[in-house]
Amino acid sequence: MCGIVGYLGKSSAANILINGLKRMEYRGYDSAGMAVLNDGIIKTTKKKGKVSELERLVDLSKENSTIGIAHTRWATHGFPNDINAHPHSDQANKITIVHNGIIENYTAIKKKLTLDGYQFKSETDTEVLAVFIGALYERFGDLEYAVRFALSEVDGTFGMLVLSADHPDMLIAARRGSPLLIGIGDDEFVAASDAAAVIQYTKQVIYLNDNEIAIITRDGYHTKTISNEDTISKIEQIEFDLEQIEKGGFEHFMLKEIFEQPETIQNAFRGRLLVDEGDVKLGGLRQIQEQLRSAERIIITACGTSWHAGLVGEYMIEHLANIPVEVEYASEFRYRNPVIKKNDIVLAISQSGETADTMAAVREAKQKGATVLGIVNVVGSSIARYTSAGVYTHAGPEIGVASTKAFTSQLTVLSLIAIMFGRMNTLSKYEGIKIAKELLNIPDKIKKIFESADKIQQIAKQHAKAKNFLYLGRGYNFPVALEGALKLKEISYIHAEGYPAAEMKHGPIALIDENMPVVFIATQDEIYEKIISNIEEVKARKGKIIAIATEGDTRIESVADNVIYIPETLPMLTPILSVIPFQLLAYYTALELDCDIDKPRNLAKSVTVE
Ligand code: G6P
Repeated sequence: MCGIVGYLGKSSAANILINGLKRMEYRGYDSAGMAVLNDGIIKTTKKKGKVSELERLVDLSKENSTIGIAHTRWATHGFPNDINAHPHSDQANKITIVHNGIIENYTAIKKKLTLDGYQFKSETDTEVLAVFIGALYERFGDLEYAVRFALSEVDGTFGMLVLSADHPDMLIAARRGSPLLIGIGDDEFVAASDAAAVIQYTKQVIYLNDNEIAIITRDGYHTKTISNEDTISKIEQIEFDLEQIEKGGFEHFMLKEIFEQPETIQNAFRGRLLVDEGDVKLGGLRQIQEQLRSAERIIITACGTSWHAGLVGEYMIEHLANIPVEVEYASEFRYRNPVIKKNDIVLAISQSGETADTMAAVREAKQKGATVLGIVNVVGSSIARYTSAGVYTHAGPEIGVASTKAFTSQLTVLSLIAIMFGRMNTLSKYEGIKIAKELLNIPDKIKKIFESADKIQQIAKQHAKAKNFLYLGRGYNFPVALEGALKLKEISYIHAEGYPAAEMKHGPIALIDENMPVVFIATQDEIYEKIISNIEEVKARKGKIIAIATEGDTRIESVADNVIYIPETLPMLTPILSVIPFQLLAYYTALELDCDIDKPRNLAKSVTVE
C-alpha cells in the first residue's frame, strides 16, 4: 500500500521521482505528491488523484533540484484529498517526509504535541510523525538522532524517507514492516518501496531490514539500527528487466500478464521437475528436508487470490501425499490462538511477499515453533526473507492490481510441492511421472485457450450489464469459482459470488432468474454428472449459463447458453487452465464497462497495512 521514492544524485530529482511514482502507481492511486529542495527551501506539490494529476502541476523543464522525495497514496487515515496527500512537513517546513505504513499511536503523540503548541493541517498519522521529528530536531539539532528517537517512540509500521531543508546532501530512509530498498547507482541513489522505481537507474540494491535506517549522502550510505548499532548491508541484484514492467504493446498490464502465463508457468517449473523419477527438486527447501519428511500437518496461510491458490494446494497435497492440510486466511490465523504442533509446517503464499497479515501470520507461526515456508513471487521481499525456507514462483513483476499470472504460478509451485510431499509419502513413481509430464504440456494448453479470447470477449459483452454473477465449481474447481468471482468484482465492480456448486441449493438458488449469469466449471472428471445436474437446476430457473467445459464435450452445449472449451488435463492441474477464461471474462467485462482495469477503485496491489 502506498509507494515512496526518493532521489539524491546529479540529475533532476523531479523527473526521476515522477517516473518512479508512475512505475509504482499500482501500489496506490488516491493521491500523489513530491517535495524537492532548492536553495534551502523545500517545495512541495501534491494532488488528489492519479500521478498524472500531480505531473500536470509540475513543470519538469524548470525543475533542477537534485534531491527529493515523493509518494503515491492508498488512503488509510484521512480522505484522499490534497491536504492529506504526502509529503507531510513539520510546522517550520524544515523537515518533510513520505511514509508507507501506519503509526498506531499517532493520536497519543498528536495530543502531546498539541499541548506543546504544535498545530496540524491534515488528518494523517504521517503528519504527526513529521511534526514529531521536527520538534525533536528543533530540540537536539541533530537530524539523524531526531529520526531515530521519533521512530523508537512510535508503534506501527513504516517505510519512510526524510528530506530536510538544512541538509541538501542527505536523505534518511527507515523501515519497519513496510518494504524499502535503496538503489545504488553512479554517484546517485534511488530509494523506493519497490524495485520497479529503481531498475531504470541501477540494478544494484540493498534491502533495508526492519528497524534499520540508512543515512544517504552524496558520498555514500551508512546503515544502522534505530537504536544506533551499525549494520552491514549486502548489495543484491534486481533480477528482472525494464521491459518486464512495461506494457509491451498491450492495452493493459492485466492483459499482458494474462498472456504471459505460458511462459511464467514454465518459469515456475523450469529446472525443478525430475520427470524420469516422477519427482521434483526444490533447491529452496533442501536444508529442511528432515522437517518436511516428518510433517504431520500443513497449514497454508495467505490472503486474497493467494488464499484461493492455497485452497487448491490443500486438495493437491491431501490427494497426493495423504497429509492433512488446513487453509486459513492470514488475518484470522494471526488473531486467533492457532494450535501449532512440533511437526506442523506452515506454508505462507504471497505474490508481493509484503502483505501485512500474511507477514504477521508467519511471525506468529515462527514464534510458536513451526517450520515456516514461503511461496513468494517478489525476490528479497519481507516474507521471502523471514521464512525458514521457500520456493520462488518466478512469475516476474505483476503490475495489474488483479492478480493473474501470480495465481497460476502459485498453483504450479503448489503442484510441485504436492509431488514432493507425495513422493515422501504415498505417491508412486508412476503417478509422479504422469503429473510431471502433464505439467510440461500446460503452457501449450494455455496457448490453446487464448484462441477463444474473441469468443470470451463476445460473452463478456453479452453479460456486462448484469448486476450479479454466480460462479460455481466442485472439487479442484471450487477455489477457481471463488477466484473467478473475485476477478470480476475487483475490476468490473459487478457483484459476484463463488460457491461450491452443490451448495447452491442452500441459498444462492434463491437469486437465480433470467437476469442472472451463472458460470459453471464443468470439466470432464468424476463429478461431471453432478455438475450437469446443478446446471439443469439453474436452467429450470431460467438462469443464463456460461460453462467452462473440456474440449470434445458436445453434451454441454444442450444445457449451456455459452460454452468456453479448455483442453483436457489431470484433475489436479485443471485449475491452472480453468481460471484462464475467468481472467479473460473479467478483463473483457471491465473493458466493456470502461473501468480502470489496472487500477481498480479502492484496491491496492500490495496491502501492507492490516
Ligand atoms: C491484495 C491484492 C490481491 C492479492 C492480495 C494478497 O488484495 O489486490 O491481488 O491477492 O492482496 O496479496 P499477496 O501479495 O500476499 O499475494
